[in-house]
Amino acid sequence: MIIRTMNEQDIEQVNGIERVAWGDSAATLDQISERMRVFPEGSVVAQTSDGKLIGYASSQLVNQISNKSWDLQTDSGTIKATHFETGTIAYGVSMSALPEGAKYSVGAAIIQHYYDIFIKSKRCSVLCLGSRLPGFKRWQLENNGDIKQYLAQSFGGFSRDPELRLYQKNGFQLLWEIPDYYPDVDSDNYGAMIVQR
Ligand SMILES: CC(C)(COP(=O)(O)OP(=O)(O)OC[C@H]1O[C@@H](n2cnc3c(N)ncnc32)[C@H](O)[C@@H]1OP(=O)(O)O)[C@@H](O)C(=O)NCCC(=O)NCCS
Repeated sequence: MIIRTMNEQDIEQVNGIERVAWGDSAATLDQISERMRVFPEGSVVAQTSDGKLIGYASSQLVNQISNKSWDLQTDSGTIKATHFETGTIAYGVSMSALPEGAKYSVGAAIIQHYYDIFIKSKRCSVLCLGSRLPGFKRWQLENNGDIKQYLAQSFGGFSRDPELRLYQKNGFQLLWEIPDYYPDVDSDNYGAMIVQR
């Protein structure tokens, strides 16, 4: 499997990956095209040796780490008004993979690619993104705790949250929680801003 910059011929397949991973919240053809047009090297795909696309991610460059919602931080997922070519902070806009991507660790490979092109290259000082927290709602109902208590728990240095844990295992550290970051019932709409440098 390789991670490579996406091109126009990939748009339909990427939309298919998004629909499998995100259902009704999938990125539209228009959002996918705009992200690629505004910041070409920020949109990448994971491709198997037989040519099939199994993963997709997009990113933008910004000048500050924010606690606003994903919608505001990404200009409704288009990055038209939020990407700054001279920005020194890379912000992960989206990531998705087909279920078969698990055997290739698509998420880890995409994160490594972004690390290489943004941090290792010294183009940016920090790579950041907002993780959903899909384990939070259930934990809250069972334990009657709040978001800070949820995030404070550590198991061998990793969060109890499955999505946040994926990012921590790939080098990210927690900065802060963001209420109403992204509409997601399981996360009670919370997100966690995370960074690596
Ligand atoms: C995140 C994603 C791209 C990772 O793909 P992948 O590299 O093929 O890896 P997997 O799907 O096997 O996930 C890796 C681990 O992360 C966990 N994970 C990641 N996102 C998760 C989520 N939203 N909910 C629950 N667990 C999640 C998995 O349980 C798995 O844990 P394990 O290694 O302990 O089994 C893929 O799971 C996906 O497309 N998810 C839906 C969209 C999404 O949540 N994107 C990330 C936010 S932008």
